[in-house]
Formats: sequence, C-alpha cells, structure tokens
Amino acid sequence: MSKRLYIETVGCQMNLLDSEMVVASLRHHGYELADRPSQADTILFNTCSVRQHAEDKTYSQLGRLRQLKRENPEKIIGVMGCMAQKDQQIIFDRAPYVDLIVGPGQLHQIPELVAKAAAGASRQMAVSLGRRDGTSDDIKRSHETFDPLRDPTMRPTPFQAYLRIQIGCDKFCTYCIVPMTRGPEQGRPPEQIVSEARVLAEQGCLEITLLGQTVNSYRYTSADGQTTNMAALLRQLHEVDGLQRIKFVTNYPKDMTTELLRTIHELPKISPYLHVPVQSGSDEVLQRMQRGYTVSDYRDMMARIREHLPEAAVSSDFIVGFSGETEAEFQQSVELLRECRFKNSFIFKYSVRPGTRGAELYDDDVPDEVKKRRNNEMLAVQNAISEEDNELFLGRTVEVLVEGPSKNSLKRGEEGPLMQMVGRTHCDRIVVFEGNQRQAGQLLPIAIYDSTPFTLIGSVVTQHVGPEMFAIS
Ligand code: SAH
Ligand code: SF4
Ligand code: F3S
Repeated sequence: MSKRLYIETVGCQMNLLDSEMVVASLRHHGYELADRPSQADTILFNTCSVRQHAEDKTYSQLGRLRQLKRENPEKIIGVMGCMAQKDQQIIFDRAPYVDLIVGPGQLHQIPELVAKAAAGASRQMAVSLGRRDGTSDDIKRSHETFDPLRDPTMRPTPFQAYLRIQIGCDKFCTYCIVPMTRGPEQGRPPEQIVSEARVLAEQGCLEITLLGQTVNSYRYTSADGQTTNMAALLRQLHEVDGLQRIKFVTNYPKDMTTELLRTIHELPKISPYLHVPVQSGSDEVLQRMQRGYTVSDYRDMMARIREHLPEAAVSSDFIVGFSGETEAEFQQSVELLRECRFKNSFIFKYSVRPGTRGAELYDDDVPDEVKKRRNNEMLAVQNAISEEDNELFLGRTVEVLVEGPSKNSLKRGEEGPLMQMVGRTHCDRIVVFEGNQRQAGQLLPIAIYDSTPFTLIGSVVTQHVGPEMFAIS
C-alpha cells in the first residue's frame, strides 16, 4: 500500500516550485497525493512569512489539525518553507503536535525526516542556511540534488513550468524577511539551468518562468573565472528546442541593464514582460527601505525600457504605509504610478516583520485605517489605468497560449463543445474566449472585442476561407 501525502502551499512561485520538488522526492519514496488532511499519512504546509497575514493563516490551519492529530497520532505533520525558517522553535511552542520543521535550504532532507518520524522520532528540525559560517555550500548542495526533481502533475498546467535560476537574496530591503528565510543570493550554474530547461521542454513544456528574488541580477562565475549574466543565460535558454516562451520574475530596478533589454528585444521567445517593483514613489521612503535607487533612477530605467523594448508590459509592486510614510510621500507613489502606467501593480499594506532592520529601526506608525485607505486609493488608480490600456486592444489580434478552462467556466461546471477558456499573451495579459478543452496548450490568434481592467475578451480567429474552397471540381 502506498502512503499518502497532503501538501498545502502559500506564498510565491518559489514555494510552488519547492512543493513540486518535495512531492517528486516523496513520490520516489512511494507516496501518492491525497486531497484532504484526513486521508493523508503525512501533512505538509509550505509556508510564507512575507506578511503577518500569511503566517496567521498558517497558524490557524495548524490549530485546526490539533484534534486530527490527537485522534490519529500516527499522522505526520510537517511545516516547511519560509515560516519554518523564521519561527523555528516557536512553531513547536505554538503547535506541539508538529513533527517536523524544515527550512527552504533543507527540503531535500524531507523523505529521511518523514521516515524517522514514522519510526518514532519527534520534533525534528532542519533549518541550516549555511550563512553562519560565511559559506553557503550546504544550501547549494541541497539545490544541486533537489532542483532536478520534478513532478509534472504539480505544475500550473502540463505545458508551463517554473525553473529556479537563483537562490536567496542579498539586497536586505529593510521591510523584507526574505534574505533571512532564503539565505544568501547565489546563481545556479548555467549548465544545470539549461539542462533542466531541456528536460522540461522534452516533457512538453512550452513556457518556462525563470525564478529568482532579483532574477535579473543573475550572475554565475565558473571555476575558470568565466561569468554568465542574465542576458547570456537568456541567449543559452533561447536555443532550447521546443520552448516557445521564456518569462522571468522578479526584476530588481538597478540591474535592468540596456544589454538585457536589447537581448530581450532581439530574442523572440523571451516575453516582453517585466515585473520590476518600485515599492514607493518617494526618495525618502526608498531611502528608509534601503532599496538602493532613487525615483529618478527608476524613471531613467522606465525610459530605457520604452526606448529599447517599446512592446514591453511593465508591472510593479508598491508598499503603502511603510514606517513614517506621510500623505505627501504616499501621493508621490500615486503620481509615479500615473506616470509609469503599469500593466498591473500588486499593492501591499506594510506589515512589520520582526527580525528585519525595518522592525529594529523604525516604528510601524501608520494606522491600519490609513494603510487601508491608501491601498484602496492606489488600487483605484491602477484599475483605471489597466482599464484604459486594455481598451487599446479592442480590434487587435493577439497570440495566446491557452491554459485551460477559465475559473468562471469551472465554477459554472461548463462542459462540452463550447466553454470559456483562458490564456495569456506574450506580455502576460489575461485573455478569455469561447473555445474547447482541446485548445489547451495551443498558441492561438485571438481577436479582442471587449475588455475589463483585468481581462481581454476575444474570439479565435479562424483561417480565412477563400472562394477556391467552394469551387466545384
Ligand atoms: N524579491 C522580490 C519580491 C519579494 S516579496 C522583489 O524584490 O521585488 C514580494 C513583494 O511583497 C515585494 O515586492 C513587496 O512589495 C512585498 N513585501 C515584502 N515585504 C513586505 C512587508 N513586510 N510588508 C508588506 N509588503 C511586503
Ligand atoms: Fe526582499 Fe528586497 Fe530581496 Fe526583494 S530584493 S526579496 S524585497 S530583500
Ligand atoms: Fe513568502 Fe518566502 Fe516567497 S516569505 S513570498 S514564500 S520567498
């Protein structure tokens, strides 16, 4: 009898990818996936610490398992990912029935730790990130054995996959916990990345999304002293047969070089889509965040993007209500958003993270109602921009990689010859159209006839049928 695993993932794409690998490694040890904790022998939570809300949700889910574990003490409960790294012992204190705590640098140990837990070991913790002794060999070794493990059933679709090119982050923005949970920044060797891309393409992936916290800062220096940067890596990946689209997130404004922009423009498989968060439109706030650039640097970068990659869609993240943010500083963010006209922006209320420089240096002094109001105000401005920009697509035909039935269609339980399908353009715009399941995984021309702030609505362009087709022979 095979054993059953239930896994729940929150957080960013890094976590989705880590969960894919954990599932792959446990499948090698005879596990199958279960749909519910009650059906599983092992229950894993892959967690996020980026904002307090994400942690609260995980703790309340853990709380709900207390009873299940009391009634079924043989079930193994594990907490992995960023919150495991950040909270460590605190998790055992708050949920003493947890069996394993495993940080993002030690996920390769999960099969062994689960086996030990099944044999009776209690409260095991594996959280080394290799930073303490100044080296990061440990985490590097972990990724060497771990990253090539893949499980196609865990991907967004059978033809889309994530591929890690960079581990960790060294930027230490003062609000952010990620450098503490993911360890030092390291580029993975380009040969490893390219060979993984080949495997993904052979498995039928048409689109890969390269992952890194500051993905465009990617750099790898080999033993013989040769350095590969992001532009060079993209050139290598562009050669992989079978891949149609290559995306990458998240970009860091200061490393958006003209060489990189020119490379993206030149290579047709690289998506002209740049997620490059600005975080704030105020120099004082950027300074307190220690983002390492000014608003004028960001403007210059936008100008270079428009010059070298005019077809690009640019999106951003903003934090509102960071420590000391005045109304005037907030309005500068709104102004910058109006000026840059991002395709979309993720807007977050500042959430103070114990363990960061921001928590140490500054008070979290903007009241929650003010954060909420600023968040809504900014969202309204962004939505108006997205709405206007999407209207420009009316009457145009775009190429869409069809992902599958839309959420609406699934909710309505649509089946049969006509259902609402969803896909994305090369520059990451969401498109819905009436179609069928067989179109999933195809690149189709879609003529846009309607739009909302978030979606383009269109229909498949059918091939032109000339009069010769009707000629009687
Ligand atoms: N490495 C990426 C993203 C990191 S986390 C980058 O540098 O852009 C994703 C987003 O969460 C960030 O861009 C930021 O906008 C937001 N974020 C990070 N820490 C936060 C905090 N303490 N409170 C609120 N939002 C935060
Ligand atoms: Fe966090 Fe800044 Fe690193 Fe992004 S660049 S992960 S925001 S520290
Ligand atoms: Fe969250 Fe960790 Fe990603 S804190 S956003 S899961 S890197």
